[in-house]
Amino acid sequence: MATFVLAHLSDPHLGPLPKPHLFELAGKRATGFFNWQRSRRLVHREEVLAAVVADLKAQAPDHIAVTGDLVNISLAGEYAAARAWLEALGPPQDVSLVPGNHDAYVRRVADYPQLHWGDYMRRDEATETPGFPYLRTRGPLALIGLSSAVPSAPFMATGRLGAEQLRRLPALLDRSREEGLFRVVMVHHPPVSKNRFKRLMDGPAFRAVLAQHGAELVIHGHDHAHSVVWLEGVRGRIPTVGVPSASEAPPGKHDPAGYNLYNVDGSAGAWRCELVARGLTPDGDKIVEKNRMLLAGN
Ligand SMILES: [Fe+2]
Repeated sequence: MATFVLAHLSDPHLGPLPKPHLFELAGKRATGFFNWQRSRRLVHREEVLAAVVADLKAQAPDHIAVTGDLVNISLAGEYAAARAWLEALGPPQDVSLVPGNHDAYVRRVADYPQLHWGDYMRRDEATETPGFPYLRTRGPLALIGLSSAVPSAPFMATGRLGAEQLRRLPALLDRSREEGLFRVVMVHHPPVSKNRFKRLMDGPAFRAVLAQHGAELVIHGHDHAHSVVWLEGVRGRIPTVGVPSASEAPPGKHDPAGYNLYNVDGSAGAWRCELVARGLTPDGDKIVEKNRMLLAGN
């Protein structure tokens, strides 16, 4: 079988912010709006994101995974703009999305991601239970999308999967393993985090499911940084890979904008998976290969 190429980008934090209605600027959104005006809009740049997406498309990936934080403070006007960006990235068939904490910033808009971006987060089979986790099969891949996006208090960026997703996840992992698929779990928050203001609250329970039922790869965003963490599992170690924001202009607090490619070959029991990280140079001049690493096989 030919190499299957999965691209992963995250946290584009699309700008510019539409002018908020005054009634929208209460509570958490007020601090978020102030924060955006003061600093974030200078960090997350449209032209950087456009360069990253152009470089990604030039690699002609077979599928693109997007792990959330498309918007910033969940203003009604942000979702339609994000929808247009998704459509320019690719059709729902070729792009799989999970939401981030900024996509469900306040309680009132918790259903907006599903409303505006639903077909990018939809299961293949109508026989499956709707919602999260969803399962899509593309080539040798089983793409399993989880939502960790829940509204949190001001200054918090925590996430939660919840009992229902954790209850349904094992069956999807088991079945896709039995079908000989390369299982990719997509989630916004990393399963392991030391930052209690940003962590996945039910990370330990999530890690227990992964350890027991296995996965070939876990991909996430949220930290706006390159990272590779190995989780121990009953059937072997599981690589957990974080990607920088796709729009961050250097120099900044985090890694410069970038994205990851996964070249997947082989078959069940003998997978080969190569990670290729691409991103902006520190001077922001061009996009280059940052890292190449074998996650499975030889
Ligand atoms: Fe983010």
